[in-house]
Amino acid sequence: MKVVNSKAELSEQIAEWRHNDEHVALVPTMGSLHAGHLALVEVAKEHAERVVVSIFVNPTQFGEGEDFDKYPRALELDARRLKTTASDLIFAPDVATVYPFGLENATTVSVPGLTENFCGASRPGHFDGVTTVVARLFALVQPDVAVFGQKDYQQQLVIRHMAEDMNLPVTIITAETVREKDGLAMSSRNAYLSDDERRVAPLLFKTLSAVGTELQNGRRNFADLESQAADELASAGFVVDYFSIRCAQNLEVPDRDCDELVVLAAAELGSTRLIDNIVVTV
Ligand code: PAJ
Repeated sequence: MKVVNSKAELSEQIAEWRHNDEHVALVPTMGSLHAGHLALVEVAKEHAERVVVSIFVNPTQFGEGEDFDKYPRALELDARRLKTTASDLIFAPDVATVYPFGLENATTVSVPGLTENFCGASRPGHFDGVTTVVARLFALVQPDVAVFGQKDYQQQLVIRHMAEDMNLPVTIITAETVREKDGLAMSSRNAYLSDDERRVAPLLFKTLSAVGTELQNGRRNFADLESQAADELASAGFVVDYFSIRCAQNLEVPDRDCDELVVLAAAELGSTRLIDNIVVTV
């Protein structure tokens, strides 16, 4: 698997593909790849002849006291994993390549509104870091298509909003969440869970699914459903950040016209923050 680090090497490869009239898809990641990431590559390949996977642990999206330093990094293993997929190139830039003017002097991209609640409220500045790095990766790779996971529901919505608002010439695709056999959404952070926490972790998805079933059965007392679910998670040892039923299109409180709901949750188990969601058509 070819790995490039510099802008020049990347541009050279992309130019060659463009010369051959090939389309390019980008799958942005922070590495430490699992089957969820690899599935995004396969989705990307359905939309473009060439797939670039970027691996960059982006410092600007981590808050103070968050896990930037201990975030798992495994480039060699990632490259071996990607070899088994349809990807064509790994772009693994360093901080100076992505932020040539330095982190302090970097131009930032910020989406208002959509980023105020949920993970945006609990992790101030997080989404500014995400949109800033994704805009930079789009500028470097200039992909026709970029694929993001539904697992980070708010993130993919924020990126769609950014791309639309800025008329970025890229189509955003959202790929479904890949789960462990017991329902736990795959995540690089699952590696932090102790054995006991790992046994409890699937309850997050179970609880989301149970609420999804209630919604499909016509229940509409959202506040009760949310608080019952949050209580259940808390009794099992989760520290719940949010458990919310929202309109899937815009994360607003659903009105009668909203026929696609998203049930979103974030909760900590020990020191590990888990997020997950399900989309329910009603
Ligand atoms: P990271 O957490 O590495 O995730 C990279 C991509 O994989 C994201 O689009 C995420 O939604 C998707 N993903 C993660 N777990 C998944 C799962 N279980 N099933 C399907 N897709 C999954 O998200 C980021 O990195 C960063 O914020 C990034 C967008 C790369 C910007 O730095």
